[in-house]
Amino acid sequence: MLTTYQLAPSILSADFSRLGEEVGRVMDAGVRVIHVDVMDGHFVPNITIGPVVMESIREQVHGAGGVMDVHLMIENPDRYIEAFAAAGADWISVHVEACVHLNMVLSQIRAAGCMAGAVLNPATPLAALQEVTGDIDFALMMTVNPGFSGQAFIESVVPKIARARQLLPEGVGLEVDGGIASGTIEAALDTGANLFVAGSAVFGASDPAAAAQDLMGAMAARA
Ligand code: DX5
Ligand code: ZN
Repeated sequence: MLTTYQLAPSILSADFSRLGEEVGRVMDAGVRVIHVDVMDGHFVPNITIGPVVMESIREQVHGAGGVMDVHLMIENPDRYIEAFAAAGADWISVHVEACVHLNMVLSQIRAAGCMAGAVLNPATPLAALQEVTGDIDFALMMTVNPGFSGQAFIESVVPKIARARQLLPEGVGLEVDGGIASGTIEAALDTGANLFVAGSAVFGASDPAAAAQDLMGAMAARA
């Protein structure tokens, strides 16, 4: 799944009072990757969700053949890898800006039985991935500064994403996160990326299933 085109709706923009229903709507529309944004109020200003919320949807997501894509925007992520793996994480990504010992944290993710991802903020040079291309299953390029959904896509990151595709081995997935919507997905697709996170464009829409299908249609046109 990491190397095919996938839309990964972020539950951060969902209505938490009926989370299962929201997840069910997009999975019924064909989504197989559910993006979970974890924020600690330290690495980013916002505080969001943790393993308890993941546990509440794990059976639903896995039962429908889906995966949980956990994006850790937290300090000291090494302390929490096992807890997220135990809560049903399939893919876990950590910010290079938050890891002093990145290689070790990536090994820890794989040892926990998950796919390992490394994330770069918009201003972080691609060179930060240079020495770990063999230690990751996917890379995630932020096209907003992490912390909140609903921000505008930062266009100037686009060339870096295309260079990332050149740097990364073929079997390594390339994910884009932040401000993806019908007006920006084409620019993101042009980079060669294959995994696309969308929060407000899906769960903020009046019809999340239709919004997801619209974005998946743009991806299918490139397949
Ligand atoms: C930003 C998060 C994103 C965000 C996406 O810090 O990592 O995943 O929720 O939301 P949109 O698609 O609304 O930018
Ligand atoms: Zn995210």
